[in-house]
Amino acid sequence: MKVRKAVIPVAGLGTRFLPATKSIPKELLTIVDRPTIQYIVEEVVASGIEQVIFVTSEGKSAIENHFDYNFHLDAVLKEKKKVVLGEELNNISNLIDIVSVRQKKPLGLGHAIWTARHVVGNEPFMVCLGDDLVLSKIPCAKQMLDLFEEVGESIVAIQHVPQNETFQYGIVEGEKDTRDHTFKVSRMVEKPSPGTTDSDMAIIGRYILMPEIFAILETITPGHGGEIQLTDALLALTKKRAMYAYEFQGIRFDAGDKMGYLKANIAYGLRHPSLGKQLLEHLKEVVAGK
Ligand code: UTP
Repeated sequence: MKVRKAVIPVAGLGTRFLPATKSIPKELLTIVDRPTIQYIVEEVVASGIEQVIFVTSEGKSAIENHFDYNFHLDAVLKEKKKVVLGEELNNISNLIDIVSVRQKKPLGLGHAIWTARHVVGNEPFMVCLGDDLVLSKIPCAKQMLDLFEEVGESIVAIQHVPQNETFQYGIVEGEKDTRDHTFKVSRMVEKPSPGTTDSDMAIIGRYILMPEIFAILETITPGHGGEIQLTDALLALTKKRAMYAYEFQGIRFDAGDKMGYLKANIAYGLRHPSLGKQLLEHLKEVVAGK
């Protein structure tokens, strides 16, 4: 079955990035010249996804507006003969079919995904977290969709992290598969206490999930932090069907975290065709203390 839809949850409170996120959704904070969320939507478009489902909440309507047609702005830019800029803005609103559902309370990532169940329906779907960026030659979503064509089962993207950081992530345990960069998942645990797992395979914000996850999410009781944890539902899913962990090729940034956000701006800035060289010179000067 083809994966046609991507759920992008953007309903979180963004408390790690206060005060910046007091009135601005963290997904709209800018990485070089466009908001984080635009990179993610562009990634799924470049990977062949046909529909994006935003899971939004109160105070996040600016995200939907960013991908909408802005009649007033378009008219002003035409009047000022700023044709290229006008086209660029209209291209954003033509990127992909976007649907929004509302998560009424921030009850966790698992609950946010469950909120999208009626729009997803009975088919496998992608999940991309609205604050997780992956810089890569082949879009991370495309790498995972290619693997899905082979395995036809749920996939979580992972990266190896230092042992003393595993408590910050959902951690998977599993055996190496015959395919490159792929593991068969046997167990997973959300934010493990020290000494409870030897694995350093941390789940990042990209998943392909089978629709059975929705029925499982319905039965999950709040876990770590009083939230409905996706990891708990994933663990239950592994008991019913196979699940794979995929070591994606690229660099991942948690743009919902202050340090991750700064690193992302530097990495994307250095790769920017017209700004990169100048930024590198500037960074050298800063490091040299000029
Ligand atoms: P995070 O844990 O990074 O988001 O969730 P958060 O809760 O906004 O962050 P902090 O910890 O308070 O800073 C990962 C993704 O899941 C979404 C977030 O918007 C983010 O894209 N999310 C999280 C929801 O949509 N709903 C929730 O209830 C929780």
